[in-house]
Amino acid sequence: SILILDFGSQYSHLIARRCRELNVYCEMLPCTQKIAELDWKPKGVILSGSPFSVYDDGAPRVDKAVFDLGVPVLGICYGLQEIAWTFGGKVDPHDRREYGKAMIDVVKTGNAHADRLFDGEAEQVQVWMSHGDQLSKCPEDFEVIARTSTAPFAALAHKSKPIFGIQFHAEVTHSPRGKELFGNFVTKICGCKQDWNMETFIDKEIARIRELVGPKARVIGAISGGVDSSVAAKLMHEALGDRFHAVMVDNGVLRGGEAKQVYEMLSKGLGVNLTVVDASDLFLGRLENVDDPEKKRKIIGNTFINVFDEEVTKLEAQAEKEEAEALKAGRQHEAKGKYEYLMQGTLYPDVIESISFKGPSATIKTHHNVGGLLENMKLKLIEPLRELFKDEVRELGKVMGIPAHLVGRHPFPGPGLAVRILGPVTRAQVEILQQADAIYIEEIRKAGIYNEISQAFAVLLPVRAVGVQGDKRTYDQVVALRAVQTTDFMTATWYPFTYDFLSTVSNRITNEVQGVNRVVYDISSKPPGTIEWL
Ligand code: XMP
Repeated sequence: SILILDFGSQYSHLIARRCRELNVYCEMLPCTQKIAELDWKPKGVILSGSPFSVYDDGAPRVDKAVFDLGVPVLGICYGLQEIAWTFGGKVDPHDRREYGKAMIDVVKTGNAHADRLFDGEAEQVQVWMSHGDQLSKCPEDFEVIARTSTAPFAALAHKSKPIFGIQFHAEVTHSPRGKELFGNFVTKICGCKQDWNMETFIDKEIARIRELVGPKARVIGAISGGVDSSVAAKLMHEALGDRFHAVMVDNGVLRGGEAKQVYEMLSKGLGVNLTVVDASDLFLGRLENVDDPEKKRKIIGNTFINVFDEEVTKLEAQAEKEEAEALKAGRQHEAKGKYEYLMQGTLYPDVIESISFKGPSATIKTHHNVGGLLENMKLKLIEPLRELFKDEVRELGKVMGIPAHLVGRHPFPGPGLAVRILGPVTRAQVEILQQADAIYIEEIRKAGIYNEISQAFAVLLPVRAVGVQGDKRTYDQVVALRAVQTTDFMTATWYPFTYDFLSTVSNRITNEVQGVNRVVYDISSKPPGTIEWL
């Protein structure tokens, strides 16, 4: 497998994506990782980009032992500069930032060893550049394997060792040949086998869960109703049967009918032990008169922890009772133990986020809904999806028999409709939004474009507008529709619906949803907008 050392670039996680797409397993660790402390030997190392300059005081430095591992190394952008810096090249601030598409000229050196990176590529390759610094002197023992009109050292290779550097970002989709370049590095140069797939993952993960939990302990799962926790629950159920118990909290700001649907799917459909706790009164009570989005998030996060905690206490008492009964009746073999673990559906991007090397990037919104969940509990954390990306989770869900329309569902934020109702959240507002959203999503599915869109939802605005319906003047609310396409949810573009589609949805919402007399379509991308309105 491949080791990715992260220097804090916004694109670092995409390097991991590209490796996984090639069915090669990779792990990303912060650039400060000491090679001697690794408990596995990678077949190759990739150094990411970074918001730093190599000549900055306090710039992150790679452990030089990387170059003594005897495995191939590829540096991307800052990674290239770090290699050059290490081997005696020179890096300077460039007079202007180079950002955007560029064509590189591939240089055939005649040194088969150095030419391997661009094996199979045309003489000119389109790439994505994003850098302020650039190399002004090639280190000795390296040769140029690509250049552009402005960057004489767009890619380098060591003359005899498998060390390569590229100035451009092959990991982003704007470098259309990126996948092939990674393929050359990962499979041909590093010799990695392309054997990472969902079937092997399931077997390995079930074995890992069984070993970790042992034969006499139980696990509680926190289920949101979304794809990730549902797939994670199915996996836990496969591994532990009814020693796994899932809990879903209905917080009153779910999509219409969601709690019931999840129950049908997980409990009735897949046989997972599941308790749905209806705490909607408690949540909505605490949300009364709250306007501020961050306050809403906090209230929902904290209330969730309270409710979940209470449910865990109940399940623990129940488990203790069952244990005592089994032992008393001499049925030791049936004893299932105590609850020792809490399962969460954490994905790899969150793991990366929490371990990645922090450059100067700032938190824009707090997305971590239940960060404090474990603090008061004696449970240990188990995260069966912590190695996977979203599309891998979907694939996994399909392989394990979760219906396609469920694994393909758009992401839904933890604070739910509370961040889609601008202004205070009341049961009446929730109902209006649930109805409008259901119509919108139904029409999107009918039009056959659900899977083309990354996320679509309705938003209820806190304004009233004048309208006329029948012969009556109305003074009602406005629904905004949002739909975006994105690969990583960090940037997104609005979806170009047809006018016909928009007019159908608008007609249906204004006719069928009491209290709404206007529908608008949000044509903002991210940036400058975020995907949610709050
Ligand atoms: P933004 O609005 O920041 O959203 O562009 C990016 C993605 O994150 C989701 N999102 C959240 N998810 N808790 C969550 O679990 C939150 O508080 C939250 N806020 C935004 C959003 O739906 C989108 O997919």
